[in-house]
Amino acid sequence: MAQYFDNVSLPSEIKKMSVSILSTTLELSTDHGVFSKEKLDFGTRVLLENLPLEEFSGKVLDVGCGYGPIGLYLASTTDCQVDLCDVNRRALHLAKMNAKANKLSVSIFESDCYSNVTEKYNVIISNPPIRAGKKVVYEILMGAKDRLVPNGLLFCVIHKDQGAKSTISELEKLYDVTILEKNKGFFVIKCINR
Ligand SMILES: C[S@@+](CC[C@H](N)C(=O)[O-])C[C@H]1O[C@@H](n2cnc3c(N)ncnc32)[C@H](O)[C@@H]1O
Repeated sequence: MAQYFDNVSLPSEIKKMSVSILSTTLELSTDHGVFSKEKLDFGTRVLLENLPLEEFSGKVLDVGCGYGPIGLYLASTTDCQVDLCDVNRRALHLAKMNAKANKLSVSIFESDCYSNVTEKYNVIISNPPIRAGKKVVYEILMGAKDRLVPNGLLFCVIHKDQGAKSTISELEKLYDVTILEKNKGFFVIKCINR
């Protein structure tokens, strides 16, 4: 069965929405075949509303960007150079449309996890694709280590019913880990690349 992260050829029915996150509003288009097309995902919202933006600098990568809420929010609220990537071409198309609609200068490219990532980043951030399976989620989260500068930061959000506790144990083997927030089962996690 096709899942949202496949490059499915579903009919297109673009829906526009205005999304407010704290004091920032983004105009975002979504479509069939992308994650959380009806409204901003609650896990994404909890992640964005609990980020220590003062710790963001340099280059940021949003892995599994979907239609772009995380990367575009960071491009609006920080001075960082923001890159966004995903495997889903429809999501990438929407993220590009959304960057343009919000007049944000970002780089958006197709990548299966880090397959097309060539640079090192100060910050990597993800609401990882749980439905793609643990292998992909771990590749995004543990694989960030090799794409972060020393002392670079990884931020992610995972629900307790989607393996948050075991994922945190694995992250602790590679990073200094802090739980920034717990909200309705969603854990917002900060990792420092030690
Ligand atoms: C939980 S969604 C988050 C989307 C968006 N960041 C948000 O917060 O609304 C995870 C995203 O990861 C993407 N994805 C799935 N498998 C991937 C892979 N192997 N490499 C990169 N992205 C992937 C999906 O297409 C989806 O857009």
